[in-house]
Formats: sequence, C-alpha cells, structure tokens
Amino acid sequence: MANSGSLTQARNDKKDEFYTQLADIEKEMNAYIEYDANVFRGKTVLLPADDPFESNFFKFFALHFNDYGLKKLIATSYDPSPIVNTQLELSLFGDDDGLKEGTSSKLSTAYKIELMDVSDFDEDGRINITDVQERLRSERVKIDHGKPSKMLSYLEGDADPDGETRFSPGDFRSAEVSALRDESDVVITNPPFSLFRDFLEWIEPEKRLFSIIGNVNAITYKSVFPLIMKNVLWMGESIHSGDREFKVPDTYPLKSAGWRVDDKGNKYIRVKGVRWFTNINHGRRHQPLSLMTMADNKMFSKHKEVMGHDYQSYANYPAIEVPYTDAIPGDYAGAMGVPITFLDKYSPEQFEILGLSNAVAKPITNFVEDDAVYSKGGPQFYIKDGPKKYRRTYGRVVIKRVDGSTR
Ligand SMILES: C[S@@+](CC[C@H](N)C(=O)[O-])C[C@H]1O[C@@H](n2cnc3c(N)ncnc32)[C@H](O)[C@@H]1O
Repeated sequence: MANSGSLTQARNDKKDEFYTQLADIEKEMNAYIEYDANVFRGKTVLLPADDPFESNFFKFFALHFNDYGLKKLIATSYDPSPIVNTQLELSLFGDDDGLKEGTSSKLSTAYKIELMDVSDFDEDGRINITDVQERLRSERVKIDHGKPSKMLSYLEGDADPDGETRFSPGDFRSAEVSALRDESDVVITNPPFSLFRDFLEWIEPEKRLFSIIGNVNAITYKSVFPLIMKNVLWMGESIHSGDREFKVPDTYPLKSAGWRVDDKGNKYIRVKGVRWFTNINHGRRHQPLSLMTMADNKMFSKHKEVMGHDYQSYANYPAIEVPYTDAIPGDYAGAMGVPITFLDKYSPEQFEILGLSNAVAKPITNFVEDDAVYSKGGPQFYIKDGPKKYRRTYGRVVIKRVDGSTR
C-alpha cells in the first residue's frame, strides 16, 4: 500500500492541494507556441488532475481552444480531493442559477468534461470564456436534473477501489482516466506532488506530449534522469530559479516561510524548486550557452572558487569539477561535472549528458571527509585535497561538448 499510504498522508496534510496560477501556465505555454504555433493544432489535450470548474489549466485551454486549434479538451476532477469544487476564485459556477432547489453549484463527486468546440453560445457576437461558462452551466443543469449531457459526466472509478490496482473516481490511475489518456495527444497539469513518479510513468512520456509541474529534485530520480539523458524529457522554459506562488485551500495550515492572504481572504504559499518537466520543444532549449574559455574563467570569473584556480579533476571519475554553470569552460572538450541546475540551460545541440554523479561515481575508500556538509547522500564525486583527504562535491550532472567540439 505504498502509494495509498503516502497519498492518505498527503491528503491528510493537504499537501497535494496547490493550485497553479494562470500567469505561470500562460508563460510556459507561450514558450511552446512561440517555438511552434501549431504545436497543439488538431490535438486532444487531457488535464487529468484538474477540476474543470476550478482549474486555471482548464480556463487557459478553454480560452485558447480556437486559436490553438484544439480537437478536444478533456479535464477530470478527483473525488477524494478534500476541496473538490470549493475553492478557487475561477469557479465557473459562481452562483446557483438554474440549479434544482436544494442543490449546490458544487458537484460532489469526480467528473469529466469533454469540450469539442467553443462557439458563441451566449450569442453576444463574441467567443470568449463566458461562452464556456454558459455552456457548462447549462450542461450542469442537465445532469443535475438527471438528463444526459454530451460534455459533462460523472466518473465512476474502478469497482471496489483498493488504492493499489483499483482506484477511486478521477484517480489518474483508474481505468476511466487511463482510457482518456490513451485517446490524448497531450497531457498537461500540475499533478499531485506526492505521486510525481507514478504520474510521469503513467503519462507514457515516449508516447505523447506532456508538460507537468514538479520539484527540481525529481531530476535525480532513477526513473527520471535516464529520460533526460535520452532527450525524452527536459526542463520547461519559464521557471528556472526562485519560487512560485500557489493558491492553497482555506484550511491549509500556513507553516511555510512565504505565504500571504489576499484581500479576498484567499491563501497562497510560495513553493521553492518548482520546474516544468516536458517533452514539448521551446526556444531556450536550442540556444547554446555563451561561455568563456578556461583561461578567461581563471582570470575573470566572478566566482572566488574559479578565479585564480585550476579546474580540478575528480579522484573517482574522469571529469573536471565545474562548480557553477556560468564557469563551464567553452574550450574544454572532455567530461565535466556541473551543477544539476545546468539542465535549465541545457541545449542538446551544444552538450551531451553522460550521467549523474551518484550513478557513475566509482567507490572511494580510505579517506577523510573534510566537510560535514558533504557527508550525506550516497556516492558522489570527490576531489583530492591531500593525502587520504578528499572533498566531496554536491550532486553533479556529467556533460561534454557534442562531438568533443569546443565551438
Ligand atoms: C498540486 S494540485 C494541482 C491542481 C491543479 N492541477 C492545478 O494546477 O491547479 C494536484 C491535484 O491533484 C489531485 N489529486 C491527488 N491525487 C490524485 C490522484 N491520485 N489522481 C488524480 N488527481 C489527484 C489533488 O486533489 C489536487 O487537486
């Protein structure tokens, strides 16, 4: 019950309930569209952890349904979500107009929306989000009165869910949502943080386009790094450093450092180390880094560990240590260990990736570590600092110029 245990815990802690802001979605999708205006044209897009009435992902793709040329937009909500249909300001059902007496505007179980077209539903001469709102509202009234709707329907989930092989309504692993994945060309969402590994595997990253939000630490997962090496997955264009603000449920305990409540009483927290993980092309990925030569780095680097020093070789792997991405020597053709955040700047036309330090480092024994900071976390690269004395480096990505070129 590994998954359901951690899921229950995460749910109890409400750690999976972070809602992505429209501006963050917009920046990343714009990067894909700038690179290829037709990237979503004729495609079915699935948003599999996105309450269509609440999620900014749904709002964003419904808004762009026509200009992106989508064939179909599907969004599914998740039943056990403690706040399903209760939180976001987006709420496409702000009031209960047209609903049966005694019912709330909030649906009480998981459901899916399948949007096949966005037209001038309210006949005001313009096609915009109010058309989607009005249409969903009318479909909602239909299902609320027990009538069938072609767009909106409840999800049933697997029979007798056990959280291991059978899953509750709206769970991405359930047979229904997996079937929606199978008919989709693109999967986009901010998935439950506690299930990132399972979610990425579920997407089948070599079969369809995807863009999902995760923590930068996921780069080093055994199931993720090989995909990065094979250029099956890379970092998105718009988030490189710092943190991002997410909306959280009213009940969320605000223990984290960066949080705020806006004038409407909505709670937000800032989350560190957020990244887009994607296989959709963008311009940044094809821009080579502009780098100084090794000699110039030694003379002019802004980093005290680099300026005036020789680049050191590791004692347990044939590569040189490069402690900062902007200190990569542009004229070095051999292997280099660079910080993991190099991947934010990685262009496959400039560098190839040879491995991750904790996977390729050779064992090293009979040594004294000189810095407690480096004393945790599996095998790593070491630099010899004296007889029997080694300094352990942070986790590194090993790279070298494509074809050994230094231009
Ligand atoms: C990080 S939140 C993001 C929500 C939304 N995608 C967004 O970005 O605004 C992850 C969402 O996944 C839902 N969730 C948790 N476990 C899930 C599962 N097994 N299958 C599908 N959704 C799940 C949570 O309830 C939560 O709403």
